[in-house]
Amino acid sequence: MKRYDLDGPVADFHDLLKRAGVLSGDRQVSRVDLAGQGNMNVVLRVWDDAGKSWIVKQSRPYVNKYPTIPAPLERILVEASFYQAISSHKVLQDRVPNLIFMDQNEYLMVLEDLGPVKDFTTLYKRDQVLQKPDAEALIDFLIDLHSLATRDHHPKFPSNLSLRKLNHEHLFLFPYQQDNGLDLDDITPGLAAVAAHLRGNKGLQKAAQRLGERYLGTGTTLLHGDFYPGSWMKTEKGLRILDPEFSFMGPAAYDLGVMLAHLLMAGDTPDSILTLMDRYVEHCPIDRSLVMQFVSMEIIRRLIGLAQLPLDLRLDEKESLLSFASDYLT
Ligand SMILES: Nc1ncnc2c1ncn2[C@@H]1O[C@H](COP(=O)(O)OP(=O)(O)OP(=O)(O)O)[C@@H](O)[C@H]1O
Ligand SMILES: [Mg+2]
Repeated sequence: MKRYDLDGPVADFHDLLKRAGVLSGDRQVSRVDLAGQGNMNVVLRVWDDAGKSWIVKQSRPYVNKYPTIPAPLERILVEASFYQAISSHKVLQDRVPNLIFMDQNEYLMVLEDLGPVKDFTTLYKRDQVLQKPDAEALIDFLIDLHSLATRDHHPKFPSNLSLRKLNHEHLFLFPYQQDNGLDLDDITPGLAAVAAHLRGNKGLQKAAQRLGERYLGTGTTLLHGDFYPGSWMKTEKGLRILDPEFSFMGPAAYDLGVMLAHLLMAGDTPDSILTLMDRYVEHCPIDRSLVMQFVSMEIIRRLIGLAQLPLDLRLDEKESLLSFASDYLT
């Protein structure tokens, strides 16, 4: 497999864009930049000498930023499959970059460049809230996405099981293990004791295990799979959604639960997330209790698991979110 790297030969990018059919006439590739901050994959912005640009995203058999951590190469094909699956739905398609080209043998995609983007992780700052039109646009994206899948059932959509199994460790196992090596006091002094108390709750561990089975099972709804502020982008043309590499056919409650959990951690009130859930339920039936279980899962794994966020929360706030989550899950 040819590797496309930031400092790789420009000729390789030239050939790739020619194969993708986007480089016209005698245009040349003039520059390659990092597209933005990502951990999992190689994501590059490739320019031609007329100032046009495209995004090249290639997976590696490991996490790009941490090469000792294996990760399934096929994740990029899952991402491409997601874009293909929604491509005939105009409203959904308008919220994501165009998939221009993919090469299954080179595990890469060429995507439309959305230009300068900024993700929504600034929401975790104390003075920032998700504006109503954005919150509604995100919910509406999920409504359209989840109804699309139930209509068509996408029987051939890849299972993405290897990536889900890796993720399952981080979602349902690691956060619940005593002495897992993560020093939580280093993140927020006092958090280790709160976590130790939570981890002593066998009922909670069992509930997480049961929910984990739902995550690994097969569903009939096409999910984004990582629907959190790091996948939501502000662009010059409005809100866009990126990075569906964790996509799978599963329970709709998963996407909605993850989204609402992040809004709670970003300071939204339980009332405001319930209003968003109501908007969803007006169009799509959903098991509200399952949504709240996934909300809880996501809060627990983000507060006391490995994939930490740039949260602006005091110990007492983390403690009350954790106790809310633990009550719901058990
Ligand atoms: N189509 C695009 N247009 C503009 N910018 C993009 C596009 N795709 C990706 N980017 C930029 O590159 C960054 C990384 O992309 P992406 O999230 O797809 O990669 P990743 O390696 O899967 O990241 P992560 O480790 O968070 O999963 C994005 O946050 C964004 O800044
Ligand atoms: Mg990713």
